[in-house]
Amino acid sequence: MRIVAEHLSYIYNAKTPFATTALDDVTLTVEEGEFFGVIGHTGSGKSTFVQHLNGLLRPPVRKRGKKRGPAKLMVGEFDLTDKKTDLRALRRRVGMVFQYPESQLFAETVFDDVAFGYKNFAEKKPEAGEVERAVKEAIEIVGLDYERVKGMSPFDLSGGQKRRAAIAGVIVTKPEILILDEPAAGLDPLGKREVMALLNKLKQSWCKTVIVVSHDMDEIAENCTRVAVFSEGKVKYVLPPAELFQHTEELLALGLDVPLTAKLVRALKERGVAIDCNYTMEDFIAKVLAYKGGVC
Ligand SMILES: Nc1ncnc2c1ncn2[C@@H]1O[C@H](COP(=O)(O)OP(=O)(O)O)[C@@H](O)[C@H]1O
Ligand SMILES: [Mg+2]
Repeated sequence: MRIVAEHLSYIYNAKTPFATTALDDVTLTVEEGEFFGVIGHTGSGKSTFVQHLNGLLRPPVRKRGKKRGPAKLMVGEFDLTDKKTDLRALRRRVGMVFQYPESQLFAETVFDDVAFGYKNFAEKKPEAGEVERAVKEAIEIVGLDYERVKGMSPFDLSGGQKRRAAIAGVIVTKPEILILDEPAAGLDPLGKREVMALLNKLKQSWCKTVIVVSHDMDEIAENCTRVAVFSEGKVKYVLPPAELFQHTEELLALGLDVPLTAKLVRALKERGVAIDCNYTMEDFIAKVLAYKGGVC
């Protein structure tokens, strides 16, 4: 499924003294099969944008037959400006992992929690054994030991394990598009690495498209096909990392970080060494090793 957003704007508490413009005329497309990054300063509109993609927040809706406004939002064949769009059917195919998703774990066992995610979106009443099969597969792909954790309370898992159990409850329906809002936030370095490795695995074998809101520029540079940069509710850039991180000065001016590779390229440039790489560490090192000219 392809995502097409055109002229999306969103105001919280519209028509009150507390009105906040969170999105301001956002236009962007995410192709099927992308590993799409969303970056930007706190408050730039990232969460507001991704919450539109599974219908949690809506653009202005129109009655059928009425002329549409400027806003357009299509997720595959689902028209989010149409009041009658079946949001349950959409959410079966577009999974959303919120920030700190473990805060929504509630069942007595990990099994029940993940099973809830499955039954909640099942098209019809599941057949015998179907739920267990799906739950087992989801728990295993997120890297937890099914036999060990299935009967455990989710609250007895470690922080990183809780996060992965919560992700299992979303991916259990095998959504075609998986959206994660800062999935590694608050985890220790090992937990962060595990979550990013999990996203790669899901992208390869489970969900066609992955959209991730992240502050970790190294992960963005290593994994994403393209990146959207939000600033004050607007989209500043939508570029592949190899092009985006050529704008190091502009990103730093927006208060954003850049990958380590971009910092190294910049430091070398100041010393007269021009390295033209795609900002993955592998490519950076290859280019440095192949470097012949300039001042070393
Ligand atoms: N529920 C809400 N009510 C009022 N304002 C909100 C709400 N959620 C977000 N905002 C405001 O909307 C803007 C965009 O927020 P958000 O989409 O959460 O940004 P980000 O995810 O990039 O940090 C910010 O100014 C924020 O304060
Ligand atoms: Mg946010």
